[in-house]
Amino acid sequence: MPVLTVLTYPDARLKEVAKPVDSCDGALRTLVHDLETTMRASPGGVGIAAPQVGVLLRAVIVDVSIKKNIAHHGRMVLINPEILLWEDMAVGREGCMSVPDYTGNVMRAQRIKVQAYNEFGHATQYECVGYEARAVQHELDHLDGMLFIDRLVSRRHDLFARVKKN
Ligand code: NI
Repeated sequence: MPVLTVLTYPDARLKEVAKPVDSCDGALRTLVHDLETTMRASPGGVGIAAPQVGVLLRAVIVDVSIKKNIAHHGRMVLINPEILLWEDMAVGREGCMSVPDYTGNVMRAQRIKVQAYNEFGHATQYECVGYEARAVQHELDHLDGMLFIDRLVSRRHDLFARVKKN
């Protein structure tokens, strides 16, 4: 179960639009497994998208269950995801494994409905709120070549350098 190398900004592959997955086969399940291993190896990791490891397919994992006192669905594998509904926009702070030195304030819907397949090809739907909804929107952006730094209202006021821990 390898931990894959996560691409970081400004790697050009992070700007690509990923292709739909055409078969939920063994190769996809291996990818999902490796993505999950990579996400869980990153402290505080709550989501990962295949393009972050250089695989330009529409596959995402979100699991925000390490955060306390929030509504969540645990581990969600989202293959070819589509957001069907957005409600209640709000600003919140985000980070990203591909932008390790910064966090930023981004406007997102606080309530979404997302439809996707899981790694076994079963169609699923989730209604997500708050932090989980934000994490899903952040990861789905990776499938369209968007990073949170592309969504800042103001680079001057909404981008924050992380404090280095030595
Ligand atoms: Ni990210």
